[in-house]
Amino acid sequence: MAYRWKNDLTRDDATPEAIYLNRRQWLAGVTGLGLVGATGVRAEEAFEPNPWEDITQYNNFYEFGTGKEDPARYAGQLTTTPWSVTIDGLVDRPGAYDFKDIMAQVTVEERIYRFRCVEAWSMVIPWNGFELSDLLDMAGVQSGAKYVAFETLLRPEEMPGVRYPVIDWPYVEGLRLDEALHPLTIMATGIYGRDIPNQNGAPLRLVVPWKYGFKSIKSVVRITLMEDEPPTSWNKANAREYGFYSNVNPDVDHPRWSQATERRVGGGLFAKRQPTLMFNGYEDEVASLYEGMDLTVDI
Ligand code: MTE
Repeated sequence: MAYRWKNDLTRDDATPEAIYLNRRQWLAGVTGLGLVGATGVRAEEAFEPNPWEDITQYNNFYEFGTGKEDPARYAGQLTTTPWSVTIDGLVDRPGAYDFKDIMAQVTVEERIYRFRCVEAWSMVIPWNGFELSDLLDMAGVQSGAKYVAFETLLRPEEMPGVRYPVIDWPYVEGLRLDEALHPLTIMATGIYGRDIPNQNGAPLRLVVPWKYGFKSIKSVVRITLMEDEPPTSWNKANAREYGFYSNVNPDVDHPRWSQATERRVGGGLFAKRQPTLMFNGYEDEVASLYEGMDLTVDI
């Protein structure tokens, strides 16, 4: 059964500071998630959530520019209501699912996850969201489906970054169906108990904690169930550097830098880099998905 966060804070208390002070309850919550194998043994400070400011002012959302501060600066102009997600392809009930209707049918819970960008920085983020499998259940996945494709909104008048062909817009991503149905895979709709800010992918974005951050596609407008592996933006841009799987792996370096260690955002200029964890620390939960695969080939 999914963990439900014991929310003893009111909305007025939901400041980063207040939540920061309640860190021990959050760690207890992690235990409730059934992630002890992956997280409970880690040094406590390695699992202390980053403050709100780190999480919402140091972003990658290239639709708003490639600078880390561009999303916070420009994403405010994104219109996120009304919002719907089209679910199509190999499903029983294809159609446009209104965000409000989705939210009325799912249970939002707290998930404190490590987040590891392929650029070798990391954070710990207290997401609020629901399991992707709940959304896929609404649409009814058909037996022929093997992959799930995702697409981000493309609205040039609100997205200054799409003037530049950094990638082939819209941003697209994909998962194998068993990865998508894994209980760790969520659609995030909040951070620190507040609605997710635009720069982090409002109103709903994918979070796959054992994969590099670029798999966690933001501001999703379409989800398509398919038989074949879907194209993904970074793989299309540079297949040698970015594979379809993109599982966090300290033993497989990016062609241009090592992935053995990572810099914790907010750790300070002189903070020691920390070792990268296999599957970002979620090995006990997800390694079985890749049995028999050579993860140095299927990157
Ligand atoms: N989704 C879209 N649509 N556009 C992007 O540029 N960047 C990805 C991912 N999802 C990106 C995206 C990358 S590289 C990372 S590391 C994470 O979003 C960053 O998420 P955050 O800004 O919430 O930390």
